[in-house]
Amino acid sequence: MSRKILVTSALPYANGSIHLGHLVEYIQTDIWVRFQKMRGHDCQYVCADDTHGTPIMLRAEQEGITPEALLEKMTAEHQADFAGFNIEFDNYYSTNSDENKELAQGMYRRLRDKGLIETRTIEQLYDPEKQMFLPDRFIKGECPKCHAKDQYGDACEVCGTTYDPTELINPFSAVSGATPIKKESEHYFFKLGECETFLKAWLGGEHQHGAGGQPLQTEMDNKIREWFDSGLKDWDISRDAPYFGFEIPDAPGKYLYVWLDAPVGYMASFKNLCDKKGLDFFEYWGKESKTEVYHFIGKDILYFHALFWPATLHFSDYRTPDKLFVHGFLTVNGQKMSKSRGTFITARSYLNHLEPEYLRYYYAAKLTDRVEDIDLNLDDFVSRVNSNLVGKYVNIASRTAGFIKKKFDGKLSQQLDEEQTALISRFQAAANDIADLYEKRQFSEAIKMIMALADKANEYISDKAPWELAKQEGSDDALHMICSASINMFRLLTLYLKPVLPKLTEKVEAFLNIEPLVWDDAALILTDHAINKFNHLAKRIEQPQIDTMVAENMQTEPQKPEAHSQTRHGEAQQHDNPPIADTINIDDFTKVDLRIARIVKAQHVEGADKLLQLTLDIGGESRNVFAGIKSAYNPEDLEGKMTVMVANLAPRKMKFGVSEGMVLAAGPGGKDLFILNPDEGAKPGMKVK
Ligand code: 2FM
Ligand code: ZN
Repeated sequence: MSRKILVTSALPYANGSIHLGHLVEYIQTDIWVRFQKMRGHDCQYVCADDTHGTPIMLRAEQEGITPEALLEKMTAEHQADFAGFNIEFDNYYSTNSDENKELAQGMYRRLRDKGLIETRTIEQLYDPEKQMFLPDRFIKGECPKCHAKDQYGDACEVCGTTYDPTELINPFSAVSGATPIKKESEHYFFKLGECETFLKAWLGGEHQHGAGGQPLQTEMDNKIREWFDSGLKDWDISRDAPYFGFEIPDAPGKYLYVWLDAPVGYMASFKNLCDKKGLDFFEYWGKESKTEVYHFIGKDILYFHALFWPATLHFSDYRTPDKLFVHGFLTVNGQKMSKSRGTFITARSYLNHLEPEYLRYYYAAKLTDRVEDIDLNLDDFVSRVNSNLVGKYVNIASRTAGFIKKKFDGKLSQQLDEEQTALISRFQAAANDIADLYEKRQFSEAIKMIMALADKANEYISDKAPWELAKQEGSDDALHMICSASINMFRLLTLYLKPVLPKLTEKVEAFLNIEPLVWDDAALILTDHAINKFNHLAKRIEQPQIDTMVAENMQTEPQKPEAHSQTRHGEAQQHDNPPIADTINIDDFTKVDLRIARIVKAQHVEGADKLLQLTLDIGGESRNVFAGIKSAYNPEDLEGKMTVMVANLAPRKMKFGVSEGMVLAAGPGGKDLFILNPDEGAKPGMKVK
């Protein structure tokens, strides 16, 4: 029977790039959704950018653009990254949409009319210069416990203490540098405390719609019960202007906190899909819905999804989700992802060096239905992809396809012998078990089973040694059947790997000359069937690909979020300057050929966040240079300026073209970047010495 299923992944914040940590969730969800679709179920997968809040507002301001323009740029980047990893949403939308506004404000009105909203006056830190209340992460100061300087308003990164921002010593606003003052304001609270009975019933599985059982994995269920024990606190759902978000109805100057409208974005994205596809919104979200609804999320956002979300849904007369599928974090080489080690790897930089499906395969080989963290060990990644995916699975076809094409006119044999039929039946018999493992999100077990079958196929081929038979006269029939049986095993393995490797599968489907594989095709065997020429399917990973990617992500200074990066007034950079480098001699220096250059042309580079493309004149010779100075300069302000460039740097091939040198600039980054300017009279091409 075909099931009706709605699936979501957490909505990524619009103010950051997608990295390999995010991808654990999107890949996990995408595999599960593709599996459901292969089974013939009606499964919709929706997502959106999470667009509201102070960081977006401030970043847009910093970049001198509107928040909407920033959102447009970020969603294009996110969607390109997801597409790059073959994550296939049925709809990708934005929380800054009309649908979301109507749904979120409507939800608020219903909660208010049920008496579940109350107002209270609270005192918060306020930036008198910027005239705004400061979220904790935008207040910095000295840790009250260990006295480490420059700590955020909620927790000390040095000693780990958590505190209230008002406890910081010498606090300052990370936005303007001003000393914050305490100021009162009226806030709106959702009375979560009154939802306890409902929430306990929901956790107990009493509000299931499309699926049975409890909504949470055991370890998450235990965690929630600890929160009940310490008492459910009412939830502050309002923020004061200036704020980028939706206004609270009938409350001028008050906005809905981003975390109220973010999960509503799941519904809004789906509503948008309904309008495009003619689906019935209430069949999915209405109280009487029988549809299965699942949210894939990380363990860090459990509180929002397991308490606020079901409570706000239920009391605003919508159905609640059937299950939350919670996963752990990603570590790289056994440690937290780190910018200084180069292991904070962005989706884009991975795609610049490696095949997306290799990461999908590796994550699948590691993912379970539990909430444990998964580790991307880069050596293990290389070895598993090379030895299992390429060395075992792809190898089955590489070892046998050529004979079919060369000796049998590209046609599989009409029949198979008993041993071959029995072996293939074993492959077919695994279909149910593998399906069961996918269904339960035990992907690592599924991959183990599939690879054990790949071993069997390879053993069979080694045992029969078709390359020997090919040399013997009168062995053609045997050779034909052995290779045809192998191709059938390869086809079944492909079917089982299809949710993980959708693009590789497309290539195999073209090679096998078959329709897109669905799960029921496991019952078939291909005989007397013409296949196409076997083209190379997958390359081994070479170590330099990994090394270059890691080097590209390496940053000596931990990069702070854009909006936090301004230093306090008065005490500008002194302690931020890196130490003087090791001594060099004059010969070392003269190796660097510095030239005066005139910036003839400066322009934006489509798709590049940080770069400007400069055309430089160095005395009759023109150079094309990509410079990471976009955060500090408008191209039109640069044209005609004189500067200094390294003229003998080896040309570097970048995504956008070849860079033929480097211009010199000082400063920590962001708006604080200053290109060098020679004194008047210097001419293009003059050597700097
Ligand atoms: O933690 C995050 O990245 C949030 N942007 C997730 C939001 S999920 C949903 F609630 F919108
Ligand atoms: Zn501290």
